[in-house]
Amino acid sequence: MSENRTPLKVTVTGAAGNIAYSLLWRVAAGDVFGPDQPVELTLLEIDSAVQAAEGTAMELSDSALPLLRNITVSTDAAQAFDGANAAFLVGAKPRGKGESRADMLQANGRIFIEQGRAINDAAADDIRVLVVGNPANTNAYIASKAAPDVPAERFNALMRLDHNRALSMLGEKLGADSAEFERLVVWGNHSDTQFPDVTYAQLNGQSVGDQIDQAWYTDEFIPRVAKRGAEIIQVRGKSSAASAASAAVDHMRDWALGTDGRWVTVALPSTSQYGVDEGLVFGFPAVGVNGQWEAVDDLEINEFQRPRIDANIEALRAEAEVADGLF
Ligand SMILES: NC(=O)c1ccc[n+]([C@@H]2O[C@H](COP(=O)([O-])OP(=O)(O)OC[C@H]3O[C@@H](n4cnc5c(N)ncnc54)[C@H](O)[C@@H]3O)[C@@H](O)[C@H]2O)c1
Repeated sequence: MSENRTPLKVTVTGAAGNIAYSLLWRVAAGDVFGPDQPVELTLLEIDSAVQAAEGTAMELSDSALPLLRNITVSTDAAQAFDGANAAFLVGAKPRGKGESRADMLQANGRIFIEQGRAINDAAADDIRVLVVGNPANTNAYIASKAAPDVPAERFNALMRLDHNRALSMLGEKLGADSAEFERLVVWGNHSDTQFPDVTYAQLNGQSVGDQIDQAWYTDEFIPRVAKRGAEIIQVRGKSSAASAASAAVDHMRDWALGTDGRWVTVALPSTSQYGVDEGLVFGFPAVGVNGQWEAVDDLEINEFQRPRIDANIEALRAEAEVADGLF
């Protein structure tokens, strides 16, 4: 019974933003940690948006959600991560007009170093950190580097949205439900170099590669998945929010509760598998087991895959070099 369980402390940054407006309700409704697990929410915002976060907190309170025990709004990272069992790092500084990618990394570096240090100093031992704010992979790399006492594998970045987009596009193409596919992976960086890969994918036990033509796969599927974020902005006029929140829910739920043997895409710190430099936060296939990720790291890589994976290694290596200069 939920009354007997100790509430989990969940911290969400960027709490006044678009993604959080969907994510917070899903967390508080039990979609992440289960229908019997109460939660306490801490909403972290910057000064200019803290009033809006207070408004979000009022609405959460007005929802009378049975699992939601407490809501705190804060502008202080040290306070917000104190005792946290799970953190969704959603808040980030978007690339401004005329800014280079290095400028954006610099601005985000400051945010994620501060938050990584606060997590290092104050979070609970079982902390799980999911970075959503872009550039998500390198922000996770930065936060992890700023938290040397927390095992690196406790810092993930969100690539589940890319995975879900790929599943949905395959389902549409082959007239199947996304749940019928197995062994899909999106390698690399949450950017347009990412590589949605059907090499091992199966639909009800049959090879997906045998059911789609190569031209569609190479010229339509791969670039469309990789550029789906831009397509959403063009059509909707705003960036993906509810789908990103839904993917973040899927990721954290599968991390905490397991995937029952199914592969999902998780951006994890590399342990040097597949030629990815150790520590780079890279999209890999993984299975959730006993509250941890087990990366699938014994796959054969063919000539079609290798350059596509390598392009992501190079991109993330370059971002990490800029990030390293911020410490
Ligand atoms: N990884 C993915 O798949 C994925 C998908 C969609 C969006 N995103 C990224 O998620 C992020 C959030 O998107 P959104 O639509 O919610 O943006 P948004 O602009 O609506 O909200 C972001 C919020 O973060 C806050 N913020 C900024 N710096 C902060 C800090 N240091 N501490 C706490 N809060 C801070 C801002 O005040 C703002 O309220 C963006 O970086 C976006 O690019 C990632």
